[in-house]
Amino acid sequence: MFKRVSASILCIDYNNKEALIKAVEDVENARANFIHFDVMDGKFVERKTFDHNLVNFVKAHTCLMLDVHLMVENPESVVGDYIKAGADIISFHYEATKDAKALLKKIKDKNILAGIAINPKTPAYKIKDIVESGLADVVLVMGVEPGNYGQTFIPGSAEKVAEIHELNRNVYIEIDGGVNVKNSKLLRKVGADILVSSSTIFNAKNMRKTVRALKGNDYGEQIAKFFKKHN
Ligand code: DX5
Ligand code: ZN
Repeated sequence: MFKRVSASILCIDYNNKEALIKAVEDVENARANFIHFDVMDGKFVERKTFDHNLVNFVKAHTCLMLDVHLMVENPESVVGDYIKAGADIISFHYEATKDAKALLKKIKDKNILAGIAINPKTPAYKIKDIVESGLADVVLVMGVEPGNYGQTFIPGSAEKVAEIHELNRNVYIEIDGGVNVKNSKLLRKVGADILVSSSTIFNAKNMRKTVRALKGNDYGEQIAKFFKKHN
């Protein structure tokens, strides 16, 4: 598997449509693979951000894949809206739901990648059963407490990525929060497949170089390995 980058629009002025379209174009030009949407409801986390209408809007302006991260209570009640909005990955929090397996199944049945997200305080063993069941296509490991961009990476999160990688090698691991070029090397090494970033990408002097560095400077080798394996 070669590494992908998911650009979170959280740190831009996403209510300003011109700024949003420009940000989308910038990350497309910089060769990011996904646009990451941090949906917050003011209950699961203090902050409130946006809903499926923003996903709808962005969908009309890009061909990049849309990666929705629901930081909401009762995700069951909103998942349908994001399915309709055209999300390609929908992740919800393990801590926010009673029947994670049923919700993963509901998402997968629509041919959308289904993801389970875990907070820094939730140990990997709590989702062992879910990860081993194969119902989750994606596990989103938080590298910071959910709620804001620009926070410092919590080091134990890299170990958690490694633990999940051991539980199921077929699951895509997304690491989200506090990711930068420096720590990305270790994160790729321990098994992260999708590196999410907001501030590292949008504050970059050279966005394309930064996205490439997050994917790993051995990207050519990664691709060669990938095709060898699949031939
Ligand atoms: C945090 C969000 C992250 C955030 C990452 O609650 O889930 O996706 O946007 O921001 P950075 O990359 O700045 O830590
Ligand atoms: Zn996120």
